[in-house]
Amino acid sequence: MRSLNVGFTYDAKTDYELLPGDAQDKYAEFDFEETLVEIEDSIKSAGHKIERVGHVKTLLRKLMSGEKWDIIFNIAEGIKGRNRESQVPLVLELFGIPYVCSDALTMGATLDKVVAKSIVSSAGVLTPKFLKIEKISQLSPKKFNLKYPVIIKPSEEGTSKGIESDSLARDFKHVKKRTQWLIEKYNQPALIEEFIIGSEFTVAVIENDPPNVLPPVRIDIQGKSYLGEEFYTYARVENDDIGYICPAKMPKSLEKKLKIMALASYKALGIKDVGRVDIRVNKKGVPYFLECNPLPNLGKGDIFPLVANAAGFSYEEAICKIFNSALKRYNLS
Ligand SMILES: Nc1ncnc2c1ncn2[C@@H]1O[C@H](COP(=O)(O)OP(=O)(O)OP(=O)(O)O)[C@@H](O)[C@H]1O
Ligand SMILES: [Mg+2]
Repeated sequence: MRSLNVGFTYDAKTDYELLPGDAQDKYAEFDFEETLVEIEDSIKSAGHKIERVGHVKTLLRKLMSGEKWDIIFNIAEGIKGRNRESQVPLVLELFGIPYVCSDALTMGATLDKVVAKSIVSSAGVLTPKFLKIEKISQLSPKKFNLKYPVIIKPSEEGTSKGIESDSLARDFKHVKKRTQWLIEKYNQPALIEEFIIGSEFTVAVIENDPPNVLPPVRIDIQGKSYLGEEFYTYARVENDDIGYICPAKMPKSLEKKLKIMALASYKALGIKDVGRVDIRVNKKGVPYFLECNPLPNLGKGDIFPLVANAAGFSYEEAICKIFNSALKRYNLS
């Protein structure tokens, strides 16, 4: 294969500074320098050149001044709003530049968890019953038809932003208080969802022709695999309480159900090249779709080295498979 001139778009933590009054988790989604280097090294190992472009504004400046690349490896999370992950794909489409990962429509549809849940459930994928609350006046005890406990989360965030132990509610008073807090603090609708008591998994899928569902990862919290009412919070990620187990021991029937759900969600949402589907499994072994990330953390500190090894290839090969999937879509391979 010929050596390609690859551009790299991303939002690095080091490109932004927290200002007084900013939430501590404001830039939590952005990538660490190590992740950027790990991706670059993987692309270089396949004989390509990779140049750092940066975030959407730098990309625009460079494009306007006539710079070009054969393809862009895009992991940019974007700055604000529910279309933030769509910004880079949209600009690249406007300039006719091929890119790795999903397009603007999929990025927007997955970032808004309510939209994602509606799309997957119309494809027959089970997802917890929910309410979307834009204004606190929409919340009334008479119309509240969800079973307790429920979890209240921002509808348009990732990286467990806004998810704390107080997000779990067992009565209406608590639901109302947390929903009001969330709408004000995050300036977006709240998603109130029935809480699935049980265990948790995340399943990565790569490539499209055909999609390759990688071995499921079990999420352990403080060494426990049956989580019950425990869940993944931003604080727990920061405290290293979360363990990723892969390969994870589980009945073959459960593994099959998780893989079927991940694949159906990946296809329904139109994900390209890579995605990660978060699934909660209840006490009876029934899986529920929580959300899908078309820009999962691709760094070595996250799940990709584990899932690649469990599937029989290296981390670098996993990154190259994601990259080659895009080359194939654009007939560049
Ligand atoms: N309905 C639910 N039932 C049980 N646990 C839930 C539910 N919704 C969310 N959680 C818990 O909260 C965590 C974060 O929720 P979710 O995956 O929806 O948000 P996120 O912030 O986008 O996640 P990520 O950190 O993967 O980007 C889940 O991993 C899970 O532990
Ligand atoms: Mg998640």
